[in-house]
Amino acid sequence: MGAHYTLETGGASAEVIGAANGLSEADLEAALPRAERAERALVEAREEGLAGFLDTPLHGEMADAVNEAAAALRGRCAVLVVCGMGGSALGARALLDALAPEGPVGLPGGRAADRPRILVLDTADPAVVAPLLDRLPADATTWNFVSKSGRTLETAAVYGVVRSRLEEALGAGWRERVVVTTDPAEGPLREEARRERLRSLEIPPSVGGRFSALTPAGLFPAAAAGVDVRALLRGAAEAAAGFVSGDPDRNEALRLALWLVLLAERRGRRHHCMAAYARGLAAATEWWRQLWAESLGKEGRGFDATAAEGPAFQHSLLQLWMQGPADKAFVLVEVEDPGADLVVDAPGPPGAPWLARRTLGDAHRALAAGTAAALAAAGRPVLRIRLPSLGPAPLGAFLQLWMTAAALAGPMIGVSPFGQPGVEEGKRNAAALLGEGEGDRRSRVESLLDRMRRPR
Ligand code: PA5
Repeated sequence: MGAHYTLETGGASAEVIGAANGLSEADLEAALPRAERAERALVEAREEGLAGFLDTPLHGEMADAVNEAAAALRGRCAVLVVCGMGGSALGARALLDALAPEGPVGLPGGRAADRPRILVLDTADPAVVAPLLDRLPADATTWNFVSKSGRTLETAAVYGVVRSRLEEALGAGWRERVVVTTDPAEGPLREEARRERLRSLEIPPSVGGRFSALTPAGLFPAAAAGVDVRALLRGAAEAAAGFVSGDPDRNEALRLALWLVLLAERRGRRHHCMAAYARGLAAATEWWRQLWAESLGKEGRGFDATAAEGPAFQHSLLQLWMQGPADKAFVLVEVEDPGADLVVDAPGPPGAPWLARRTLGDAHRALAAGTAAALAAAGRPVLRIRLPSLGPAPLGAFLQLWMTAAALAGPMIGVSPFGQPGVEEGKRNAAALLGEGEGDRRSRVESLLDRMRRPR
């Protein structure tokens, strides 16, 4: 039991779904030494400066910095465009979708008049960037460039076009329309911020992209939207207290990692699927997908990860999940109190009189419970995570739970959860094709592409 969520594992236990599908007490007992080793590995990673996400919730000065930067936008910025890729965009999306007052559907009138509308731009697709630049007023738009390394191709490319467009429109005033979020000391974006004296925020050196949701990468856009970032950090810090406790019984992140790893290894459930029964958590499931896939998919190991929104997925994926290959484990995320609710009046809608006097919340909860039960009855392992509400503290705890679970699952399966060497190759190829460096790589890539073009 965590303060801000509960984690229920019964739906993945041998007792409930059968020994062929679920884990037994003996399976878990046998894995305890391995879990303890994973905990020690995470403590070491923290000491080596790789797992700073464990400590960021405790940094009060980060909340001050983002609140101050957000206050500077109030009343003078109609739109804030957050440009970043992967972990440098998905954390912001997760926070905004769940917590911004206009909600995940862009509720008209949801936002205070002096707060900016926030767009997360995680693409350099010209079909998106060009009209955006044409339509957004230069003197009322702020561009937040987020990149831990400061050298991500898409972000750099968009920075290049935005900077010249702003200079054209505003002259020296372009600088006031840019906020950079990057490493405090290293990287080309930090150099640019120093050279041009741009307003900047810092992602701690010990925190990598997909672990940066609770640094200024996610917190600044959230603060700009009016989210209580201190409550977010408090929730994360309270959850984190048990995560490196040396006591596996108190460590929910370890339990979560252990169940998913063992379901994969012992019961062949190598495909992990998360469905959230709260529209505001849809972006958080996409954030999770990247965290889980990029942290653990290495050296021929790792898990496929699918993100879905409940109950929409029931009308697209559930058939496959119920009766397709028995290679999946499921995590259903539910929010007990939706914060608002509506009653279905008597006599109820056509064909469903039993809905009379029930609420939309009742229907939503029943769909989640019904699906969890159906999956379990079909022998499909289901973990359930319940948040009492979709407030900043439970969300902070939820994100911290998964970041820690990913960082623990890595050493359990024998890979480092930090870094993403497999992604670098494609980026280097792209840079070479665009003219970076010597021609060697370029020729190799061009020749390979040429051979790929040939019909067999
Ligand atoms: O999780 C990660 O580390 C990556 O997905 C990065 O966030 C992504 O590649 C962008 O990197 P950067 O923040 O350095 O621009």
